[in-house]
Formats: sequence, structure tokens, C-alpha cells
Amino acid sequence: MKPLALTFAATLLLMAGSDALASGNPGRGLEKSQSCQACHGKDGNLAVTPDTPILAGQHAGYLEFALRQYRSGARQNAQMNGFAANLSDQDIADLAAWYASQEGLVTPQLDEG
Ligand code: HEC
Repeated sequence: MKPLALTFAATLLLMAGSDALASGNPGRGLEKSQSCQACHGKDGNLAVTPDTPILAGQHAGYLEFALRQYRSGARQNAQMNGFAANLSDQDIADLAAWYASQEGLVTPQLDEG
């Protein structure tokens, strides 16, 4: 996908908000994150290599978007394509809810009012 199309898709997803996504359960996400912890840490604050992103505190919608893109192959990364390949929509929602609920990045929220 071209960068512009990607930005457009991400914007649509953000505009749709969490209502359009399966709602994630952070506790289930923690249980499902065993295979992720070596690189991202239990709470998503570990970056085992300089190219490993911090997941803690990131927006759930963004994390879901990223995982869906790895799953479909729209976003290419040898490691993440493998780890995302067998995740269900619910797994993705739960994992995103877990990392989003952890203290880490400070990402400003859009005013929903
Ligand atoms: C072997 C190490 C490794 C494991 C295990 C791993 N990841 Fe990753 N993850 C990475 C790396 C490296 C990147 C950056 C890839 C890139 O440049 O696209 C990444 C990127 C991501 C991103 C995108 C974050 C962003 O800011 O765009 C998410 C979300 C993610 N991983 C979630 C997971 C989940 C959930 C699991 C477990 C199912 C997992 N990862 C397992 C190494 C790993």
C-alpha cells in the first residue's frame, strides 16, 4: 500500500473509533501475550532491539491496525508477520487492550466531546 493510502486507512480507522472494533479484554490480552514478551516485555515497555517499538500506552486502535496489517502482509516484517499470522480478531483486540492499558508512551487523546 502507498504511504498516502496507508495514512488514509489509518485516519478512517481512528475516525471510526473503538465502536467499529471488537472490544478487547486486557486480562485476556496479558494471557495471550506470552509469545510477545521476549521482545516487547510483559507490559510492552521493553525494546529488545533498537527497532522494536514500545507498545505500552499506545492507542488500542493503532495497535489493532498494526497487527491486522502484519497478519494480512500489508505491513512486512519477518518477525511480526509470523507472530501475527495466527491471531484471531479477538486475539488482536485483547492484545491491543492489554498494551494500551499499560503505563508507557504518553499519547495525547483527541477530544471526544
Ligand atoms: C522476536 C521479537 C518479537 C516478538 C516475539 C514479537 N514482536 Fe512485535 N515487533 C517486533 C519488531 C522488531 C517490531 C517492529 C517491526 C517493524 O519494523 O515493522 C514489532 C512491531 C510490533 C507492533 C507494531 C508497533 C508499532 O508501533 O507500529 C505491534 C503492535 C507488535 N509488534 C505486537 C506484538 C505482539 C502482540 C506480539 C506477540 C503475539 C509480538 N509483537 C511479538 C518484534 C517482536
